[in-house]
Amino acid sequence: MIDIIGVSKSFGDKVVLKDVSLRVHEGGTTALFGPSGTGKSVLIKHIIGLIEPDEGNVIVDGVSIPSASRRELNEVRQRVGYVFQGSALFDSLSVGENIRLGMDIDGCRRTAEECEARIIECLRLVNLDPEVAELYPIELSGGMQKRVAIARAFAGHQRYLLYDEPTTGLDPENAFIISSLIEHLQEEIGVTSIMVTHDIENGFRVADRVALLHQGGIRFEGTVDEFRNTDDPVVRRFVSPSEEIAGVY
Ligand SMILES: Nc1ncnc2c1ncn2[C@@H]1O[C@H](COP(=O)(O)OP(=O)(O)O)[C@@H](O)[C@H]1O
Ligand SMILES: [Mg+2]
Repeated sequence: MIDIIGVSKSFGDKVVLKDVSLRVHEGGTTALFGPSGTGKSVLIKHIIGLIEPDEGNVIVDGVSIPSASRRELNEVRQRVGYVFQGSALFDSLSVGENIRLGMDIDGCRRTAEECEARIIECLRLVNLDPEVAELYPIELSGGMQKRVAIARAFAGHQRYLLYDEPTTGLDPENAFIISSLIEHLQEEIGVTSIMVTHDIENGFRVADRVALLHQGGIRFEGTVDEFRNTDDPVVRRFVSPSEEIAGVY
């Protein structure tokens, strides 16, 4: 379980998160919605200790992240795959080598054959052919790079996957393919996922729970149906901006 408890975070005098609490139970996918610049990336970076809270706590499977030792933090990071917004593949490494990095933090402790087999298996799970392992990131389309980044994130049988804007920057067809893949992986490997996104359409398809970050706080948390049907005007404006903006021009 990932438990974010009363987290506050400022950069200088800019307050980004104010007393944010969010509990993510095992299984399923939570979409974390919010307009650009509201602190979605800042919030999920707390989960793997890339950012420390000014106040509050983040607990992953019983480990308090801000006070974790280096060793505990490494152990948690091996259980939490992170798909960065820009894919963040290493250009100088082949696809296979990039995926191998996700297997464990100290490199692959298995035999070469086991490593190879796992790389092929990860490629299969993201619908890429085995031959792709030999290619370099620059030879791939944006959608393929995203799939490789996802494969790297779960290659070590991570229990949690954090996706930061996985469909942003992709054309609608590839955005659909990537979100379908996230949905399919959920079923096939049973990970617990958090998908940070402002892409409502794909977020709704993939997620079973939804949280909305608004002005530094969690404005709403619940099921997709509850989110769709709530009367909260802030949620309504986020879901259908056209209703609110109609008549402005
Ligand atoms: N390391 C940092 N130092 C200073 N400001 C930051 C840092 N990281 C994020 N911010 C600021 O925090 C705010 C929220 O950023 P972010 O979490 O990236 O938003 P988003 O919801 O789009 O992911 C932004 O105003 C951003 O400029
Ligand atoms: Mg972001």
